[in-house]
Amino acid sequence: MLDVDTGIDDACALLLAALHPGLDLRAVSCVGGNAPLAQVVSNTLAVLHTAGRDDVPVGAGAIRPLLADPVDARHVHGDDGMGDLGWPRSPREPDQRHAVELLRDTLREAAARDERVTVIPLAPLTNIALLLRTYPDVAAGIEEICFMGGAANVGNATASAEFNVFHDPEAAAVVIDACADLGIRLRMYGLDVFYAPAVTREQAQALVDHDQQGPAGLAGRLVLFQCERFGADSGTIGDAGAVCAVIDPDGLTTKDFPVRVELGGTWSRGRTVVDMRDWTGDLAHDPHGQANTRVAVGLQVDAGSYVDLWLRTLRGEL
Ligand code: RIB
Ligand code: CA
Repeated sequence: MLDVDTGIDDACALLLAALHPGLDLRAVSCVGGNAPLAQVVSNTLAVLHTAGRDDVPVGAGAIRPLLADPVDARHVHGDDGMGDLGWPRSPREPDQRHAVELLRDTLREAAARDERVTVIPLAPLTNIALLLRTYPDVAAGIEEICFMGGAANVGNATASAEFNVFHDPEAAAVVIDACADLGIRLRMYGLDVFYAPAVTREQAQALVDHDQQGPAGLAGRLVLFQCERFGADSGTIGDAGAVCAVIDPDGLTTKDFPVRVELGGTWSRGRTVVDMRDWTGDLAHDPHGQANTRVAVGLQVDAGSYVDLWLRTLRGEL
């Protein structure tokens, strides 16, 4: 299951999850983030329609963060959140359930079949926080949560914070805490690795040439939009890297650390504070003590293999 704020790289992730033969995409939940919720839902339905996956239920979730004022990232993703391509809309409507109930039902059904589902949040964590606090029993149906968000060392939304966590810091703090409470494995595909898997203009154009109006054509156009917007020769597959990390876990090097989310701080609100200290002397004298959370923080990524995985899936070679 994916939780998205479609967005250009969410679309890249959705296409990979929808088309890769090794994945069983059960449901997609939407949250306001890169663009307002209604636009995110429309974009998500359009991407799945392009991939021929109208069978995958899509739920509309939280329209705004738990406490923070909503912001967006249309300066990155275009006014429509999808590169202003004017990509055709899907004729389909979203599921009637709220995204949190769609996620709940999907996970309960999995647990009832003694299955466990991987949850891949690629957006502000509002839906996931509401899910875990409202229906903690769903933990029985979760294999792991592998989320795109946070960073050990850098920021993008601010000098200190990554966009998804900055957009709803309280939600991120709740998810990290709830995973510790509920014994859910949590992997963080953060900014430290996010930008490395990048597709060149030439590779993107080849996707467009492969099938103009199909999934490869959409993916190629989205990367080319990034290249134009940033005046760059390549564009990151971004969120799609978190899906790659589920398909090929060995491509992401992680280490478990205690993590807290800064909720105060003028310049640091929304920062994921990754505690890498290993000397008991410091820890013994820290009035805060170490957080009781443990997050598998992504430190290095095999960018080449993830780009290859994404390109081959889009070209239908897998
Ligand atoms: O900081 C990167 C994240 O913010 C990605 O998920 C991107 O889609 C935006 O939501
Ligand atoms: Ca996203």
